[in-house]
Amino acid sequence: MKRTARLVFLATTAALSAPSIFTPALPAQSTHRGPTAGSQSATMATSAQATSTQQAAPVPLNGQTTAQNPAQTTVPGTQIKPPVATPAPFRGMMQPQRTPPNAQLADKELNEKVEKLLKELSVEEKIGQLSQYSGGSATGPGTGLTNFDTMIAEGRIGSLFNVAGAKETNRFQRIAMEKSPHRIPLIFGLDIIHGYRTEFPVPLAMASSWDPEIVKQAAHTAAVEASAEGLRWTFSPMVDVSRDARWGRIVESAGEDPFLSSAIGRAFVQGYQGKSLSDPTSIAACVKHFAGYGAAEAGRDYNTTDMSEYTLRGVYLPPYKAAIDAGAATVMSAFNSLNGVPATANPYTLFRILRREWNFQGFVVSDWTAIKELEAHGIANDDETAAYKAFAAGVDMDMQSNLYNTQLPELVKSGKVPPQALDEAVRRILRVKFALGLFDRPYADENAPAYTATADKREQARKTAEESIILLKNHGGVLPLRKDLKTVALIGPLADSPSDMLGSWGAKGNAADAVTLRAALQQRLGNNAKLVYAQGTDITGNSDAGFKDAIKAAKSADVVILALGEKADTQTGEAASRAHLEAPGSENQQRLLEAVATAGKPIVLVLFNGHPLALTKSEPLAGAIVEAWYPGIEAGNAVANLLYGDVNFSAKLPVSMPRSVGQEPLYYAQLPTGRPAPPTLDLSVPPTQDTDKTKYFSRYIDEQNSPLYPFGYGLSYTTFSYSQPTISEPSLLLSKLMTPRGSPTDERITVGVDVKNTGSVAGTDVAQLYLRITGASTEQPVRMLRGFERVTLAAGESKHVEFKLGFDELAFITMRNALALEPVRYEIYVGDSSEAVNKAEFKIEADPKPVPPKPMQPAPAGTTPANGAPLPSLVPQGAQPATPPSTPTPK
Ligand code: NOJ
Repeated sequence: MKRTARLVFLATTAALSAPSIFTPALPAQSTHRGPTAGSQSATMATSAQATSTQQAAPVPLNGQTTAQNPAQTTVPGTQIKPPVATPAPFRGMMQPQRTPPNAQLADKELNEKVEKLLKELSVEEKIGQLSQYSGGSATGPGTGLTNFDTMIAEGRIGSLFNVAGAKETNRFQRIAMEKSPHRIPLIFGLDIIHGYRTEFPVPLAMASSWDPEIVKQAAHTAAVEASAEGLRWTFSPMVDVSRDARWGRIVESAGEDPFLSSAIGRAFVQGYQGKSLSDPTSIAACVKHFAGYGAAEAGRDYNTTDMSEYTLRGVYLPPYKAAIDAGAATVMSAFNSLNGVPATANPYTLFRILRREWNFQGFVVSDWTAIKELEAHGIANDDETAAYKAFAAGVDMDMQSNLYNTQLPELVKSGKVPPQALDEAVRRILRVKFALGLFDRPYADENAPAYTATADKREQARKTAEESIILLKNHGGVLPLRKDLKTVALIGPLADSPSDMLGSWGAKGNAADAVTLRAALQQRLGNNAKLVYAQGTDITGNSDAGFKDAIKAAKSADVVILALGEKADTQTGEAASRAHLEAPGSENQQRLLEAVATAGKPIVLVLFNGHPLALTKSEPLAGAIVEAWYPGIEAGNAVANLLYGDVNFSAKLPVSMPRSVGQEPLYYAQLPTGRPAPPTLDLSVPPTQDTDKTKYFSRYIDEQNSPLYPFGYGLSYTTFSYSQPTISEPSLLLSKLMTPRGSPTDERITVGVDVKNTGSVAGTDVAQLYLRITGASTEQPVRMLRGFERVTLAAGESKHVEFKLGFDELAFITMRNALALEPVRYEIYVGDSSEAVNKAEFKIEADPKPVPPKPMQPAPAGTTPANGAPLPSLVPQGAQPATPPSTPTPK
């Protein structure tokens, strides 16, 4: 099934990669909804015909047009016809979205201003608007350019990034506003990933809170702080689904699940952009890295991605779509190639999906030198072709390649890039600049008070961290620590390293603001107890010179807190993929743990890291394990509050933690196999012989299939119980949930569950709802998250929690590669991890079959059924009648 779908996908992609990339492949006026009858090849022919019909019409490069913007009916200055309001969906294409996801960018008045200005600009100025340079520290190859002042004055730069501070941004802005030909303000961008000056936990940690509201608040604080210094654009959120623990950038993600990543991505956008981009404290979000960057082969950064359209649409695209639907003003194209076409020159994702299907009105910026890198990818033999291919695909702004500025003038002059295509890219950028109010308020206030980490900010950062830190193990009640302990040993290279607490993207965070665990414990214990500190080893070093002191400290104490992990800036984040995850940070840290364990004292292992580690060797040595990730400026206080039980743990894993690196990519929402290992089979025991009843299953011979800690898992100081879920209706007709055209209805079913705090202290659990779908035209994951809610309960308290499930939650990618519903069965699990066991069942039933017209002529058996309906196997499942058409009886 998947093979067929992929063939169709390749066919459409190939059509786009040929010269027809200048041409939208949708039939301009057709109302045809894809195949209603016939074979797969007929469907492919339909697509191909549509493409060639379209080629005949003069359509600009990339089909660029604002015509889906309701404010306009034609593209100004061109004869370009607007696409029809509801273009016909075809295989691999979702129902196009008619309402622009960000209404502000489609505003009529705003677009009038854009058009007025656009008319006045020279070609060079227009190209300047599309050009962006790093004015500060580099995270990639440089351009060698330093004459930004002159370039801005000549109107040859539209954006600078890596410039921060009110004075610095104002200095450049003054040149743009006072000297450039049309006084167009620069837009300043920066990687504000988990805070600007107030550093919050890294995104993977914030996702561990399963609390979109707290994420939104953190993003809002970052926006307020950044905008005060002239930065109105952040390259965040990164919503790349990350299923491989080896990938360094997993730390910047919301983990492995599309549903959770969508919720977190949405929250970031809402927090950055506020109610309106025009609010001076709002900053534009940039959804990245479009598309599929998280699926880098072997977890190696920048590496190839290759996936079926089924996986692209079902797993990787939803979080980008959610963030764009939340109004994100910009998108960043990714470094990776996707199914053989680099994402920065990929018209299928950048134009067909982003513009045509999703109606995105903002602009696309390339990643750092990603346009130049098309040459290394081998799809461009020179700079001109690289610039052309990226531009033709729909990349509006060139980050740091300096190729639009150098190549586009000639490409426009020669007519290869039509002027209206250039205009459209400029239009998209100007829209965002107008929407942000940059023309009216280009400057930051240089006299604003300097940043201080005030008590309010610290409290917000601490609460966010407390919700983000996960209790993985607590054997024999090691935690919470008793307040009357006399001597506490704090050991390890992460116990007192302020800069590492800030995490992988520090933005303008200051290590001096970060409270380490050592500082927090010292402050808390004061003179009441003794804190014995020993660093033990460096994070990545090999020396065991400090082991002796560490063992001595451990021996002298009632309990050992061992702070191990990774170096934030070199072992996690961009270009920091790891092939070895079995030891925290380094083998030497594992050896330190083993040495300290010889002291025989209870060990609380606190991990500060960005990769989900394979803790199989460390786990047995620690009584308790705390996954702190990188918690931000209040790291130490948050961890200490949790260790002493002043605050209860509530975070849950947004990723599966492996037993061995060889299990990667490891994620709970795997597709079923035909030979699943029976749940009763002990996979820790290797199969012994070929005839063994333990062998011919989808399993490893030397490792279990399951993770060490599963997705959604996390302990608390209390316990919770879940009732059997109830469901408002056991079944619904398909037509109740989806219209015949495949659009969602408003119908919802309700799943209810009683959650009880069965322990003796108050606590918060995350109630999680998972679906298992069977009977669909495509196989569906063994579990998929479709709802979650944080539930806070006093000891002994119960609460009834309800989840509403409608089209959005129940739909899945069908054999037509469409998000749709079919008559299927659902098992609905509710509990506190992806291993929840309590379930309810629900069914979608096919609508009653309309009475078939009497056949005029029976068709030969085995080709077409007597009622003229297509062969059952070729009908998209969602469109199938309740009972398959009967086999014709020869007369
Ligand atoms: C490269 C990274 O991939 C991207 O995420 C970041 O926004 C840019 N560099 C700019 O720093």
